[in-house]
Amino acid sequence: MSKIKFYQGNNLPLEMHKVRIIQKLNLIPVDQRLKAMSEAGNNTFLLRNRDVFLDMLTDSGTNAMSDNQLAAMMQADDSYAGSETFFRLEAKLTEIFGTRFFLPAHQGRACEHIISKVFVKPGSVIPMNYHFTTTKSHITLCGGRVEEVFADEALKVKSDHPFKGNIDIDKLVDLIEKEGPENIPFVRMEAGTNLIGGQPFSLENLRQVREVCDKYGILLVLDASLLADNLYFIKKREEACKDMSIREITRAMADLCDIIYFSARKLGCVRGGGICTDSPELADKMRELVPLYEGFLTYGGMSVREMEALAVGLEETMDEDMINQGPEFIACMVKELERRGIPVVTPAGGLGCHVDAMAFVDHVPQHQYPAGALAAALYIVSGVRGMERGTLSEQRDEDGNEVFSNMELVRLALPRRVFTYSQVMYTVDRLTWLYENRKLIGGLRFVEEPKVLRFFFGRLEPVSDWQIKLVEKFKEDFGGSL
Ligand code: F0G
Repeated sequence: MSKIKFYQGNNLPLEMHKVRIIQKLNLIPVDQRLKAMSEAGNNTFLLRNRDVFLDMLTDSGTNAMSDNQLAAMMQADDSYAGSETFFRLEAKLTEIFGTRFFLPAHQGRACEHIISKVFVKPGSVIPMNYHFTTTKSHITLCGGRVEEVFADEALKVKSDHPFKGNIDIDKLVDLIEKEGPENIPFVRMEAGTNLIGGQPFSLENLRQVREVCDKYGILLVLDASLLADNLYFIKKREEACKDMSIREITRAMADLCDIIYFSARKLGCVRGGGICTDSPELADKMRELVPLYEGFLTYGGMSVREMEALAVGLEETMDEDMINQGPEFIACMVKELERRGIPVVTPAGGLGCHVDAMAFVDHVPQHQYPAGALAAALYIVSGVRGMERGTLSEQRDEDGNEVFSNMELVRLALPRRVFTYSQVMYTVDRLTWLYENRKLIGGLRFVEEPKVLRFFFGRLEPVSDWQIKLVEKFKEDFGGSL
């Protein structure tokens, strides 16, 4: 049972850790924020950290590490080949996932690169609960196609479905029948489905997917980057799992999969990644690409210090008191935003709080990137850096047409154990002000648009002088020093 404590009538989660190292933050005044946003091409990826107050861009590589992780870093065994650190990490993964083979990689997308290169051929179809940006790019680059087979509920912004990340089994079977199992090298299941709001899948759903894979002889690949949140939700929301430990749930999930890969920038709260499998044949197929693209087999592009900390971070992931802070803080933020009538994805997921830009700025058409515009506006009025997860994060089709995203979200990531309750509430307050003044927000258009992963380095401008008007109103209400 989780020891998480609540106070004030169960409304506030109480952390089971204390903060022992801090980093000073800076909140530059609104005029400077407007200038910084303009210089960043209205793309929050291009902001400099010195201009950011609360960095809610991502949880990737920004989670707070524990004292035991930092201590472990001092014991790392430096060497190109045969590092003891590698064997300690491999043993931890074997203990937790039951997989005998571990191929390290420098981060999650590097695993996707290797898996795609080995298994995806021109014409391959990869069914999945939902795509992630880098996953789709790697599969597409290898000539494959992503097919999402999520349940209808997945795209409902307001929902009380506990597992919006589930695969729709009928749709999966229909797709396999239509495309032919020989064209489907694997089914990909993403834990804590990132782009639809950090939504989990259930253990039961994974079992059903496995049954289908067995029937057709197809591999099952788990993207475990957001596993910690998914585990916590299975424990809290899946009746049949409520008496299982996090460790037991992890093992039950892992036993159903042929390949597990992860970004350790999320899972384990360090920086790195890797691929696990219990199959010597599958490990053999992927192994040679590790030294080619990543680094020798015992480090794969990761620093040994990060690897040592990862072994500890994985063990800590098995402790409910260590993984509850993220989802519980997010739930708190979502509840407060809902109470104030601000459109937000429900039920609360992992990773962060997802504001529904389609409803927030329903006067901004999709071709003017409502989620990008809202992310820019929020930074200007608060110094909070969120991330666009909508049409900007898609790429144009082969004919150059805009591919409109199913959802237009602004993700406010809560890196694990980093922000305080008052910082979360500051963000909620600024969002409330912005919602009251939402008609002042206008759209964006590209000034420079890269062909691949345009959301990372594309530059945009406001379609009118709306940002100047927004700042004028902000100063009327708060003055110019905030
Ligand atoms: N899979 C999922 C589900 C992810 O969320 C990410 C990264 C990756 C794979 C790729 O891992 O960054 O280590 O190469 N998500 C980050 C984010 C970038 O901000 O959500 P990576």
